[in-house]
Amino acid sequence: MEHKKLIQAALEARIFSYSPYSGFAVGAALLCEDGSVYTGCNIENAAFTPTNCAERTAFFKAVSEGKRRFKAVAIVGGPAEKEPETLCSPCGVCRQVMMEFCCPQDFLVILGRADLSFEEYRLCELLPLGFAGDGVKKSGEDKPV
Ligand code: THU
Repeated sequence: MEHKKLIQAALEARIFSYSPYSGFAVGAALLCEDGSVYTGCNIENAAFTPTNCAERTAFFKAVSEGKRRFKAVAIVGGPAEKEPETLCSPCGVCRQVMMEFCCPQDFLVILGRADLSFEEYRLCELLPLGFAGDGVKKSGEDKPV
């Protein structure tokens, strides 16, 4: 799928952002290896820590429906009252969630703007020497990458 279509899907997901505390609305669109797309928005909470970022919303929706293999994620974000003009880079927690399910050398993180312009990065650039959990696994289930 073309990057701009994925950014467009992220912009549409951003409309549903629940961000009354920060006023910062984020949307994400996650492209699975099978071509399906899962979207997400940030969902804030009065107690602050339960807040979920848009990227994790998209990942958790996909994984909870059986998807484990991903190609790229598009992210758009900025002040809710206007269209995103600047890039929104994923937080460290979201980078670590990506690390769990994606190959850091291959997985693309596309940072988009409302005009559909973008910058793209590999996960390994955004999370160098990321913790992949080698030696942690107890069950026989293989990691997806
Ligand atoms: N946020 C995201 O959803 N994704 C990011 O990549 C950065 C931050 C959200 C969390 C919070 O609801 C708001 O943006 C301000 O930090």
